[in-house]
Amino acid sequence: MCGIVGYVGKQRAVSIIIEGLKRLEYRGYDSAGVCVLQGGQLDVAKKAGRVEVLAKEAARHRFNGTTGIGHTRWATHGGVTDANAHPHVSSDGKFALIHNGVIENYSQMKQFLVGKGYTFASETDTEVLCNLIAYHYAKEPVGQNGGSRFVECVRKSLQHVEGTYGIVVLGVDFPGEMVAARKASPLILGVGDGEYIIASDASALVSRTQNVVYLKDGEIVHITPAAFSITTLDQEDVSPVVDRITWSVADADMGDYAHFMEKEIFEQPQALENTMRGRFSEDGSTANFGGLNITAAELRQIDRFLFCACGTAWHACLVTEHLIERFARIPCEVDYASEFRYRNTPLHSNTLFFVISQSGETIDTLAALREAKRKGYKALAINNVVGSTIAREADGGIYQHVGPEIGVASTKAFTSQLMVGAMVALYVARLRDMSFSDGVQYVKALKGAPALVRKALEQAPHIRAIAKRFAGYHDMLFLGRLSLFPLALEGALKLKEISYIHAEGYPAAEMKHGPIALISEKCPSVFFAPAGEIFPKIVSSMQEIKARKGPVIAIITEGCELPPGLADEVITIPDCHEAVLPMVAAIPIQLLSYYIAVERGCDVDKPRNLAKSVTVE
Ligand code: G6P
Repeated sequence: MCGIVGYVGKQRAVSIIIEGLKRLEYRGYDSAGVCVLQGGQLDVAKKAGRVEVLAKEAARHRFNGTTGIGHTRWATHGGVTDANAHPHVSSDGKFALIHNGVIENYSQMKQFLVGKGYTFASETDTEVLCNLIAYHYAKEPVGQNGGSRFVECVRKSLQHVEGTYGIVVLGVDFPGEMVAARKASPLILGVGDGEYIIASDASALVSRTQNVVYLKDGEIVHITPAAFSITTLDQEDVSPVVDRITWSVADADMGDYAHFMEKEIFEQPQALENTMRGRFSEDGSTANFGGLNITAAELRQIDRFLFCACGTAWHACLVTEHLIERFARIPCEVDYASEFRYRNTPLHSNTLFFVISQSGETIDTLAALREAKRKGYKALAINNVVGSTIAREADGGIYQHVGPEIGVASTKAFTSQLMVGAMVALYVARLRDMSFSDGVQYVKALKGAPALVRKALEQAPHIRAIAKRFAGYHDMLFLGRLSLFPLALEGALKLKEISYIHAEGYPAAEMKHGPIALISEKCPSVFFAPAGEIFPKIVSSMQEIKARKGPVIAIITEGCELPPGLADEVITIPDCHEAVLPMVAAIPIQLLSYYIAVERGCDVDKPRNLAKSVTVE
């Protein structure tokens, strides 16, 4: 939520910052701005609208300086206006600041600063912090030790802040320097060749360097063209660890696709391969995880799982719950991370706690993880972004290894989470009472998943034609049962988030208890109807919809036959093992939502009001 970039080096800062902002735009895209320190001034260009609008505005400024900061915003405090866009400059013109997060106690600080004569040009919480830094600086202007005085003013100000932040600050009296700090909002420092780039995530800097330092909560970094140093809010020195990013800028490019979402949908066979790679036992009967950090003996003691997540990742938890209970026969619960963190859920000592998060930065998921740890439980994470806050704070975990996911609507990260969940279920089941031969069957099925997903993707032209037919509707139901009930929720979420069509997901049989009142020729239903004992029950539910003139789109598995005329449209996916079915079933709903959104002319990768990484409550 909000993307931030800062640059110190020898190049024209503005080009590098705008390039970085374009890559971070998925984090927020209602306004954008840049500030360059040049000619003894903090020169700012900022506009409501996309980074493209800012790029045009910036071209009118003569930005030649080699130190600068930039921001792409997802509004929290204050509407979407030029004035509320970041960077903010203190009213004395001394400091400029970009911020991702929320300053909760900003109104008390604002009152205090107004009393001291500071003025405000925006309605944001961020401007308060910027003026607070200026206030601390004005109390004791720069002395001999110029650089560290800069850090001290930022540190003192942050000591008064309640809330969350990733900030980058420029000071007019500190040419070629930059100070950045974080608490709960991510920041990564790229260590380049004679230059430093600091950003919310690696996609903004990977074109210039793959050497990075992941800043931790409570750390402040001071950057000059020649060096950087890290201290904590409590003034302790930190020895930085430089990590290497394993992916390159090509992975974050759209290639020949029209949207990142389309690219990521079609990348799924490869993404699933990457998630599985090296994670099966030599005898081919179970899964192995290097970083789980829990012994087989400990896992045998576990008598309850609790999974927490938000959004699409929460749907992955629901599928995992189904598979763990079905195959490992261990009770499993799922909670929204945002609820768990405030509910005093009783946890039994043999409960194993898991979070699932693509970004590893979702604030509610992080808070749920911390709450579980605070209560003394082992808390593990399934996560895609290496080095993310959740990955670092979890007691152990499993990386998804699917590369950067840029489209706001999660696709390849979701199916990869389903794969990890299926592997966890297998691993635990094999430690209990799943037989060797059932394990071998299960592993074979998982290894076959990429090919089946590829086959499901071949339906794209057919699904595109269906999307054309249904793009004009205002409401849609998604119905499924058992492991495909969460897929019905996911289908409804995908459709509403990118095409703005109202959609609901329900267990197919539950539809009679309310949603059926919505059914008419104007409200189509998408049914998951896979082969199996539940198939005739789902067909009955379809009949009930059809009897009320509701159009039906049926997603069936190969070999199933529906009564003639029951479905208006049929999408056939390969029949497969229960652990793989949700991954394959995800494809038609992703494609249907995507093509409907395209048909309606929606901005698929940047849906209104949403952001990829939700780092505020
Ligand atoms: C946002 C995104 C969703 C995502 C959710 C959780 O709402 O738009 O696509 O599923 O956050 O994100 P996480 O990174 O924790 O998986």
